[in-house]
Amino acid sequence: MIVGPDKADPSSREIVPEPEWEFLLQELIRKRGTALIIGETDSGKSTLVQHLIKRLISESISVSLVDADIGQSSLGPPGTICMKSLRDEKDFNAFRFEKMSFLGTTNPALVIPMMIETCKKMVDICKETSEIILVDTTGLISGNLGRALKTGKIKVIEPEHVIAVRRNNELDHILDSAVGLNVQDQGSKGSKDKEQDNAYSLQKEETRRLF
Ligand SMILES: Nc1ncnc2c1ncn2[C@@H]1O[C@H](COP(=O)(O)OP(=O)(O)OP(=O)(O)O)[C@@H](O)[C@H]1O
Ligand SMILES: [Mg+2]
Repeated sequence: MIVGPDKADPSSREIVPEPEWEFLLQELIRKRGTALIIGETDSGKSTLVQHLIKRLISESISVSLVDADIGQSSLGPPGTICMKSLRDEKDFNAFRFEKMSFLGTTNPALVIPMMIETCKKMVDICKETSEIILVDTTGLISGNLGRALKTGKIKVIEPEHVIAVRRNNELDHILDSAVGLNVQDQGSKGSKDKEQDNAYSLQKEETRRLF
């Protein structure tokens, strides 16, 4: 058996930081608070989140992650919203949830009010230990459902920052309601390696079918 980095696992890939990420990091360090990361599927939300966590930890700043991507959680099983507080590299290497809530589906459109409520609860738990909280979200952004989910989270969680990972104007219908919020635009390059992405997409599809 050959053991090595899983090619289909995004966490095993090298992250190429976007130029805007450093400014974003400095903003987070300066202002602290909760940051909601939104963007369409495969726009690079989770990659950005991983990068920010690594950089914050390297600056000895503790950070909490709320993983609200019920389709494909990085902290726990599919169909869950999870949280974890991270202080050092050891926590990053053991990337498993500290608290988990099971929503019973991987389809966010079916459980929008429950997602918003659970996400808020997880953020409140994180506030007990961390000054910086990152909330990674699903790629459900389009139409009325996407807007209901994201604007609902903005309203209930009241994040200090909304990080918009976008290519064009696909988030406008959500950001219109974020007036007065600190919206940080992060250009999305999304997928960089087609072969790996195909494997990764297949893996995602397989997971969705199973649950
Ligand atoms: N800056 C980057 N450097 C390297 N790879 C990247 C970068 N940004 C995105 N990618 C790649 O693009 C793909 C999608 O990224 P990622 O999983 O972060 O997107 P996502 O928005 O979290 O997707 P989903 O909505 O499915 O959770 C992954 O294969 C990831 O490795
Ligand atoms: Mg993701």
